[in-house]
Amino acid sequence: MLSLFLFSFLCASWHNVFAVTLDTEGLPDTGLDTSNWTAGVLPPLEDIWDLNDMQMAAKNVLSGKYYASYRTGALNEYTYQANLGIYSKVRLNGFGFRDVSNLQTSTTILGYNFSQPFFIAPAADAGHANKSAEASLASAAGKAGILYVPSISSTLSIEKIAKAGLEGQVMFHQEYIWANTSRVIDELDRIKAAGFKAIFLTVDNTGINGIRTRAMRYTASEDTGHAANFDLNSLAAFRNLTTLPIVPKGIKTWQDALTCLHLGFPAIYVSNHGGRVLDGAPTSVEVLMDIRKNAPEVFSGMEVYADGGVRRGTDALILLALGARAVGLGRPPMFANIWGEAGVSRLIELFGQEMATSMQLMGVSDVTQLNTSYVRPKCSSYAGCD
Ligand SMILES: Cc1cc2nc3c(=O)[nH]c(=O)nc-3n(C[C@H](O)[C@H](O)[C@H](O)COP(=O)(O)O)c2cc1C
Repeated sequence: MLSLFLFSFLCASWHNVFAVTLDTEGLPDTGLDTSNWTAGVLPPLEDIWDLNDMQMAAKNVLSGKYYASYRTGALNEYTYQANLGIYSKVRLNGFGFRDVSNLQTSTTILGYNFSQPFFIAPAADAGHANKSAEASLASAAGKAGILYVPSISSTLSIEKIAKAGLEGQVMFHQEYIWANTSRVIDELDRIKAAGFKAIFLTVDNTGINGIRTRAMRYTASEDTGHAANFDLNSLAAFRNLTTLPIVPKGIKTWQDALTCLHLGFPAIYVSNHGGRVLDGAPTSVEVLMDIRKNAPEVFSGMEVYADGGVRRGTDALILLALGARAVGLGRPPMFANIWGEAGVSRLIELFGQEMATSMQLMGVSDVTQLNTSYVRPKCSSYAGCD
């Protein structure tokens, strides 16, 4: 009897030593219970009900260094926080008296068919979360029929990621403006040869990255190798280096959006790089509203993609209603990848369910029909909104 008592006591103490209490960083409290988790051990996917849960699981299992490298924003992370918070300031209109029995979430991006209007955005170093690295992001995206756009700073090579995709799967590829032009030429050729269909050209950290204090505590920041002198002439020259369509990524002002329209780009990607470059930059909601007000012809003249802080299906619906054709997820798939392909597939499933449910509640049967009538056009609670 005594030994049974001692055994139970030891088990309870042992459990208390390892029971996990995580700082949830102000993420919405939806009742996630981590008390059964063990620090440093991958929690079961069954515990996971949304993308914020996945972030907490990644925080639990990744080293401080790797978690910080994914999670970090620049400087005070005002833009990182604004990205997460902006969606709570936009109201969604839900219309009744509509037939929503047949929901359509599929769309085209640059003319290619995808099952959902959200995609996996380029993010470096997927191998920090799982040894399958970008391969699980590619295969999960392929199985779900969504777009994946690997980063040029990936763990795996361009060719290996291409091979990890399914037969016939359409992927685009991100590229940076390296100071070393022969590197750019070589990578663009390899991207095309590997079968990627378009280039997302990141233009928001030419020359330098944001100062990411949270990550610098673990790793000194390195020279990016990006060209600091990249201007409109360089952009014109870059366009001659590949026949693939180019989409400038990291547009943060309506003026740059209009410039890209005038230059004849097929699309732009509104993004502040997840708050990792210019701290203080506006959110995509604000930039899309600026474009609507000052250069609405952008939306009819080219496709617009957007990202930043998208963690719920409703966040994506807000960006789509404001004029985005497709919406990127940056950190969430990296966190989901701690379980490899199963985690990324679960993320796509959960996020898709949230979007579909909210569409139905809004009275939208076809995602391509979202427009500004579904969001409150006027609000006074955040900068740039009128
Ligand atoms: C860990 C990490 C690495 C990233 N690497 C790249 C990159 O290599 N190229 C790029 O264009 N954007 C990169 N981004 C930015 C994402 O493409 C995307 O714009 C941003 O993460 C969206 O914000 P979210 O993380 O809140 O979804 C990275 C973001 C993160 C979090």
